[in-house]
Amino acid sequence: MPIPSQQERFSRPAILLHWAIFLLVALAYLAIEMRGPKGSDSRAFWTATHFWAGCSVLILSLARVAWRSYKSPPAPVTAPPILQFLSTASHLLLYIFIIAQPILGILTVNLAGHPINLAGLGSFTVVGPDHDLGKSVKDIHETLGNVFYWVIGLHALAALWHHFVKRDNTLRRII
Ligand code: HEM
Ligand code: HEM
Repeated sequence: MPIPSQQERFSRPAILLHWAIFLLVALAYLAIEMRGPKGSDSRAFWTATHFWAGCSVLILSLARVAWRSYKSPPAPVTAPPILQFLSTASHLLLYIFIIAQPILGILTVNLAGHPINLAGLGSFTVVGPDHDLGKSVKDIHETLGNVFYWVIGLHALAALWHHFVKRDNTLRRII
């Protein structure tokens, strides 16, 4: 496997942001899995962790999109047009997800009439309560959360397939 040249690699900030966002999204999912029964201390701790991780994903994702518009990514590794299309489409969906999902989460909490409490930073509210709209937004947040387990899983599998089966530089240029 050839080592990618500097022009073939993602820039350092893009690489750091990719993996930081990955870890925070994984933490947001883990927190939801760990939270335990309503009213328990465990639920309060893991819910706060979910909010923290999710809000951090939003901030880093905005930074990532801003960085990407300033510093273009390397040209894609050569692939048949259909794979090229699937890769671009899945990357676009992932960008939409890491920005829309935290916003939907924040709206879910605010529309239910609660501020977002970020331990150590205080709390904030972006919209007032609206319980009917809140229920729909919560449903969308939960559905997207469940669908993207699969999208993220396929994205990771595609990266491993490139690395171990096709033996090209796709994974190496982002690490
Ligand atoms: C990338 C970031 C995020 C991901 C991947 C994510 C994912 C999820 C998932 C998978 C669920 C559970 C769905 C189910 O029960 O089937 C959930 C629930 C929830 N999330 Fe998020 N979320 C994110 C960000 C946020 C943020 C930033 C907030 C608010 C600050 C938030 C608030 C909530 C709330 C209130 C629930 C419902 C919890 C309950 O059932 O009581 N999420 N989220
Ligand atoms: C929450 C999890 C993840 C998200 C949201 C995510 C998102 C993204 C996005 C949006 C891109 C496109 C970068 C650009 O063109 O600007 C990308 C590229 C990439 N990701 Fe991820 N990723 C995640 C996890 C992973 C994991 C676990 C792996 C490896 C196992 C991985 C491997 C890659 C590779 C190899 C590329 C470069 C593809 C190319 O060169 O065209 N990602 N990722």
